[in-house]
Amino acid sequence: MNTLKELYNERRSVNFFDKNKKVDDKVLQDIVNLAVLAPSAFNLQPWEIIAVKSDEAKQRLLPLAMNQPKVVEAPVTLIVLGDRNGYSKENVMWDEIASMMKDDKKLEATQGFAAMLYGTSEERKIKFAESNAGLLAMSLMYAAKYYGVESHAMSGIDFEGIKKEFNIDGEKEVVMLITLGYFDEVQSLYPRSKRKLYDEIVKEV
Ligand SMILES: Cc1cc2nc3c(=O)[nH]c(=O)nc-3n(C[C@H](O)[C@H](O)[C@H](O)COP(=O)(O)O)c2cc1C
Repeated sequence: MNTLKELYNERRSVNFFDKNKKVDDKVLQDIVNLAVLAPSAFNLQPWEIIAVKSDEAKQRLLPLAMNQPKVVEAPVTLIVLGDRNGYSKENVMWDEIASMMKDDKKLEATQGFAAMLYGTSEERKIKFAESNAGLLAMSLMYAAKYYGVESHAMSGIDFEGIKKEFNIDGEKEVVMLITLGYFDEVQSLYPRSKRKLYDEIVKEV
């Protein structure tokens, strides 16, 4: 079994996918079902995923992803969505919270608090959707690596165009795409690029 440190060291954004190697449906389900252990505000999990698997859907996605070839070469591309409305009472996760709380007044107060934190401006709604779904996205990439599947995140994409093309409802944000598949061994991956370390990014106060 890989240690978490190994997964961090070995995950790369793979640009070249083996076109002949599919990701097994069960493996894809395992990746998603592991990744959803990611944390989210109030555990509301304001996210959804569209798994683009068919050739027809890949062809529709390709021009909306700046014609990045991995969209058609990889066996699957996930469209990661964040729900700007996911703090609201409509989210079924509140039922779970209600059953834990067993107190209607406390539930209502908590829902009001969530609405105040995440629903009082467009900026807050977008932050809520994107921060939570962003954590899911990272979790998906490490979960994929755990199951031996490579990934590549993409935000060089036409967010609005994807929304329209895939009939995504108004409150859902396209956060990023993540291609999944197996490395094409005849290609070589560019070396890992430099990271800014503690001294460059941390300001202690
Ligand atoms: C949110 C996000 C968006 C990205 N968008 C693209 C993209 O559109 N096209 C691309 O080739 N790489 C994209 N990348 C991949 C980065 O270039 C890559 O993660 C970075 O160079 C570090 O390489 P590594 O992941 O192999 O360590 C994206 C990565 C992230 C996290």
